[in-house]
Amino acid sequence: MKIIIDTDPGVDDAMAIFYAHAAPDIELVGLTSVFGNVWVEQATRNANYLVDFLGADCPVAQGAAAPYEMTGFKPSAHVHGPEGFGDHIDIATTRAPIDESAAEFLVRMARENPGELTVCAVSPLTNIADAVRLDPKFAANVGRIVIMGGAVDVPGNIRGHAEANIFHDPHAAAEVFASGAKITLVGLDVTMQTLCLREDFVTLAQAAPKAGGFLLKISEFYRNFYETVVGETGCAMHDATAVIAATHMGLFTTERSGLTVDLTEAASGQTIRDPSNPPVDICLGIDAEAVKARFFDVVATLE
Ligand code: BDR
Ligand code: CA
Repeated sequence: MKIIIDTDPGVDDAMAIFYAHAAPDIELVGLTSVFGNVWVEQATRNANYLVDFLGADCPVAQGAAAPYEMTGFKPSAHVHGPEGFGDHIDIATTRAPIDESAAEFLVRMARENPGELTVCAVSPLTNIADAVRLDPKFAANVGRIVIMGGAVDVPGNIRGHAEANIFHDPHAAAEVFASGAKITLVGLDVTMQTLCLREDFVTLAQAAPKAGGFLLKISEFYRNFYETVVGETGCAMHDATAVIAATHMGLFTTERSGLTVDLTEAASGQTIRDPSNPPVDICLGIDAEAVKARFFDVVATLE
């Protein structure tokens, strides 16, 4: 399956990119960067750094720097660290992004691979909404958009019932949900069940010292946030879960319903069912142990 990951790396974004690179059933054909966990320039650099690290040689296209209408955006340094990779702050790469913008790249790739491109959007949805605005046929050309975002029947993780990716650009998310594209929503309803322990990363680092050692290192800060602030044991592999859903929907149960985003100030960013919008597949159940096992088994095949 040809996949582009739209990403704001980010610790769990790095996990998703490692997984997509290692998975035998995925061809990672590009990364598009966007503001979110970090500023967009950091996201682009981090994406290029991971491409170098993995020897993946896939293009990185830089995308949006800010939400459509929300003001006062700030990166999530308290969750992902000041540079996006926890305490790992020495992030240098000579790779540059391609000349096309993220939206231009998404539109071209969908047009060149009609019905065959899966976009895993694991960050605010501004680039995806930009692609919808740029090409009226994008929604029809793209095979599927798998979105890590939202919290349909569970509480949010940033404010009230809002999940961070939707909260950071609720207007863009509302446009994407109304676009008519084939969409799978992989939100907190399922991703909060994928908690990874330190031991999981230690075992991975033994099997794959370079890749696993890196993930062990960058996950410490992120896991510490989950354990000391959120009050969980372990950290959630939100973004990798969305990539696994792209190829392994049998590990999830879904409900088909239209979806929109509450744009009122009081509840901004809450994902709610909306029968007047085109139906999407909302993941509400997960075989979390199987998803976790798949992630660690596949990434363990790296160096
Ligand atoms: C989402 O927000 C970001 O912090 C993570 O990378 C993930 O994409 C989880 O709410
Ligand atoms: Ca992310």
